[in-house]
Amino acid sequence: MDLATRYMGLQLKNPLVASASPLTGELDSLRRLEDAGAAALILPSLFQEEIEAETARYEHLTTAHDDSWPEGLSNFPKLADAQHGPHEYLELVRRARQAAGIPVIASLNGISDEGWTSYARQLEQAGANGLELNVYFIPADVAATSRDVEQRYLDILRSVRSTVSIPVAMKLSPYFSSVGNMAMALHDAGADALVLFNRFYQPDLDLTRLQVLTDLKLSEPNEIRLPLLWLAVLSGRTRASLAASTGVNSAEEVVKYLLVGADVVMTTSSLLRHGPGHMATLLAGLEKWLDARDFASLKQVRGIMSQRSLRDPQAFERANYVKILQGYRVPAPAAGIPRSLAQ
Ligand SMILES: Cc1cc2nc3c(=O)[nH]c(=O)nc-3n(C[C@H](O)[C@H](O)[C@H](O)COP(=O)(O)O)c2cc1C
Repeated sequence: MDLATRYMGLQLKNPLVASASPLTGELDSLRRLEDAGAAALILPSLFQEEIEAETARYEHLTTAHDDSWPEGLSNFPKLADAQHGPHEYLELVRRARQAAGIPVIASLNGISDEGWTSYARQLEQAGANGLELNVYFIPADVAATSRDVEQRYLDILRSVRSTVSIPVAMKLSPYFSSVGNMAMALHDAGADALVLFNRFYQPDLDLTRLQVLTDLKLSEPNEIRLPLLWLAVLSGRTRASLAASTGVNSAEEVVKYLLVGADVVMTTSSLLRHGPGHMATLLAGLEKWLDARDFASLKQVRGIMSQRSLRDPQAFERANYVKILQGYRVPAPAAGIPRSLAQ
């Protein structure tokens, strides 16, 4: 079965990619992912914010007693020698490249223009095959306009694009007023690939303690619907590679994403839930699905259910929604419950 695909200019043996998570940050699990069939790996993000906080803590420690206790400073390594800044992460990139026979894509989350470009350059120099931009940004400032938010993404992309020559992917938010138009603008600004979508942390409330809950829920398969819609709309309309991300748990979600036109399908939650070996289960499920329908290659099916390929493109739009609303039947009350209470 020929599952080969291209993603952000990289030739991949199949469309399954392990997205950024702690699993891709350890050499052992990274090797296990490759053994189980992953075609590429996205390393966890290098967070500029974290590096700067760490450096500030270190500087505080080494300068707080400058006058009163100078000899104490000899206990600390010089800042340049210490494992601060991105050293550890750059080492991960180098080691991952040595350990893995598949493309290794670094991920960056910056907080300043200088940070985005300087770390991007260092990641390229460390040998990353590509770079994913994790613009994790919640526009909580109500004065920020949608144009401001869009411009921020475009500015970051343009700065990084003009700094590195490796392929660059943008991990997109699903919350733009016009996702399609934003995707086109990002490709025009130099994105080789678009990852649909970033999954922003959404807090909940603990009603007993009256606190904001800071737990992390892994994704569920019903979350594929939003990326599925936008991948279907964008497939065949942009020359940027398209990555599906969010909600994969079984081969079923992988197949659906490929049918609407994804070049690759990424997964994190399923791997954290079932272990790195789950990559092999996803791959086997994809092959089985194709085989059962006598498809010999992935190319034969990719995008055959995109919006452009469908005889009824409205199926992805509002017309379908109205039909569904009109066809909805209110369920009958459960037996034994008085009608007045069941409402
Ligand atoms: C524990 C954990 C750590 C993650 N770390 C990162 C990260 O460092 N950078 C990033 O861009 N995304 C990160 N993600 C998000 C995933 O890459 C992915 O976008 C998200 O989980 C949705 O995909 P899924 O439904 O396959 O899990 C993380 C997710 C989890 C659950």
